[in-house]
Amino acid sequence: MQKLVIANWKMNPVSLPEANRLLAGITSRPIPEKVKVIVCPPTPYISALKILRRAELGAQDSSWEKSGPFTGATSPVMLKNLGVNYVILGHSERRIHFKETDQMIERKIRAVIESGLKAILCVGETAAIHKRGQLAAEYYVKNQIVQATSSLKKKEIEENIIVAYEPIWAISTNLNAKPDDPQDAARMISFIKKITKGQVIYGGSVNGKNAHDFLKQIVIDGVLVGNASLKAAEFKKIITAASEI
Ligand code: PGA
Repeated sequence: MQKLVIANWKMNPVSLPEANRLLAGITSRPIPEKVKVIVCPPTPYISALKILRRAELGAQDSSWEKSGPFTGATSPVMLKNLGVNYVILGHSERRIHFKETDQMIERKIRAVIESGLKAILCVGETAAIHKRGQLAAEYYVKNQIVQATSSLKKKEIEENIIVAYEPIWAISTNLNAKPDDPQDAARMISFIKKITKGQVIYGGSVNGKNAHDFLKQIVIDGVLVGNASLKAAEFKKIITAASEI
């Protein structure tokens, strides 16, 4: 199966020409068949980005409603109509800064799937839970997944949801962040696969140097990349690492 390499640009870069330059850099070499690259730019750039080549488009969030009086929101149907195939949901930054709850994420997932998109559901424990050990982290992550998918059938989950295991303490912009140990990440991902059966990827301080160590774990289906996706050369190293597995 193709390894997934997903770019989460977050709220960067701040101009469309820069965004197009970054994408042109990322796609300057053909993307190997063995790899699926999904680029998730800020929403305003989605319809304006050029030079996608074999990269697919993802969004970083969407509404639980499809249209109507929801000022400031973006509908999953709109995203679908713009050529988006994937939506990141439940990212820890949205949970923390925008107070998104498991219930809100569950509604969003349902709307996204009903609109014909796939959800990239982010889950992961805090540093405090991590310190309590593997069982505590598993309990926390399982609860996040169960809550976010409570209204879906097993098959719907398997076919439409990619789970991204992103321990919050490993996300590069967080205090004292460091990447997870690839074997520990693989262990958690094996645990998640018992719950969802679908694809499961790792995110948190992945870069050109460490990507191979994560991707060579058979159970890890890909990586979700924040900071390193903003540097074309670095991101291309991750794509290359994924193609060499
Ligand atoms: P990072 O971000 O790669 O900068 O750690 C990952 C993410 O937040 O999705």
